[in-house]
Amino acid sequence: MAVIAEVRELGRHVGEEVTVRGWIQTMRSHGRIGFVVLRDGSGIVQAVVGQKDVSPRIWDRFQALTQESSVLLTGLVREDARAPGGYELTVRDLVLVGRSEDYPIQPKEHGVDFLLDRRHLWLRSSQQRAVLRVRNEVEQAIHDFFYARDFVRIDTPILTGAIGEAATTLFEVDYFEQKAYLAQTGQLYVEAAAAAFGKVYCFGPTFRAEKSKTRRHLTEFWMVEPEVAWNDSADNMRLQEQFVAYIVERALERCRNDLAVLERDTTALERVTPPFPRLDYSDAVKMLQERGSEVEWGEDLGGADETMVSESYDRPVFVYNYPGAAKAFYMKENPADPRTVLCDDLLAPEGVGEIIGGSQREDDYDRLLARIREEKLPEEAYGWYLDLRRYGTFPHAGFGLGLERTVAWICGRAHIRETIPFPRMLYRLYP
Ligand code: 4AD
Ligand code: MG
Repeated sequence: MAVIAEVRELGRHVGEEVTVRGWIQTMRSHGRIGFVVLRDGSGIVQAVVGQKDVSPRIWDRFQALTQESSVLLTGLVREDARAPGGYELTVRDLVLVGRSEDYPIQPKEHGVDFLLDRRHLWLRSSQQRAVLRVRNEVEQAIHDFFYARDFVRIDTPILTGAIGEAATTLFEVDYFEQKAYLAQTGQLYVEAAAAAFGKVYCFGPTFRAEKSKTRRHLTEFWMVEPEVAWNDSADNMRLQEQFVAYIVERALERCRNDLAVLERDTTALERVTPPFPRLDYSDAVKMLQERGSEVEWGEDLGGADETMVSESYDRPVFVYNYPGAAKAFYMKENPADPRTVLCDDLLAPEGVGEIIGGSQREDDYDRLLARIREEKLPEEAYGWYLDLRRYGTFPHAGFGLGLERTVAWICGRAHIRETIPFPRMLYRLYP
């Protein structure tokens, strides 16, 4: 019996016979020689069969292989610089495990709806695998960044009673005799944990009933949300730029091949080093108006405005201190200009737009209660949140980074739907 090997470790088996297990990506024949490319998740390897080297039964099986059939291939490993992956397998035996009949995704252009309907198969395609490997690396980098800095990870609830961001994009769930919502954010809960542990973060799925079909919105997306006791808004922005630079550096360091598969120009990513430029909201509005935007002071920036601002910089840019009326209820009033709050959005370059929303939190009981009332939020659901201002209130700040937008930016993908294994959007719940 030949030893079973993963494609990634074939270099250790040169001159030996091994069995690899995987799926057939492509196959072709030249007379009495056949070639297949097999993918096993760890890599791809070219396998060669000579008609004279195998029994007629094996030769016929080889000839009948189809795209995405699953197989066991046994043969001799040879070094071959011209082969994809650097090694080649000279096949002696072939076992067909599962036949694949009329695989729908062909090496040609398909419409995106066609592909999204077949997302469960589309995942096998090389560019999709590259994007999801970058996502995996970014997720690991997120945990490593906070673990190395002694943050405690707090898992926040997905079923919640309090509205985290805004009443307009809530998914409501029947919760026995009560109404519950799918979490829009874990923030309110990490604020509570910050008084227990100082530095904390949560990282999980969040939900927004976004009725808009844009390239930046999913109804289910992943967000990482650190929260730090005693940090003010300036500390918060410094943490954000270190964090984003670290994530990008990790992707550059460990996902070179994936970024190459995606034909990503990495020079733009190499420039992502702190400090990032900081632009006061009022200055951003002036700049936008000069360039023809119809934005008025007091409004949040729309997607087109964000693109316009971010295109003026070669690295991510902070826009800070937005008008309070345009932002969520929990942000701290700016003592220097009470019309504004101590917050920031981080806009990624190359037209990507907002990847982070952050703020110092309102730590004054009366002002926070007034904001909850102003926004007509159900006061009774916020008793526990107000308690944090009643029992030893403290300055604190945090932010939320959207995983899919960040991965889309790093991968140079225009639409975030490819950056999550099974996207949820308006009109899409399948597969
Ligand atoms: O700006 P947002 O709404 O901020 C919060 O939720 C805060 N509670 C975060 C905090 O301070 N702890 O969302 C933060 C980020 C956005 O910048 C964006 O990257 C992402 O979450 N995001 C979305 N990503 C995909 N689809 C959507 N519908 C998104 N909405 C927000
Ligand atoms: Mg935001």
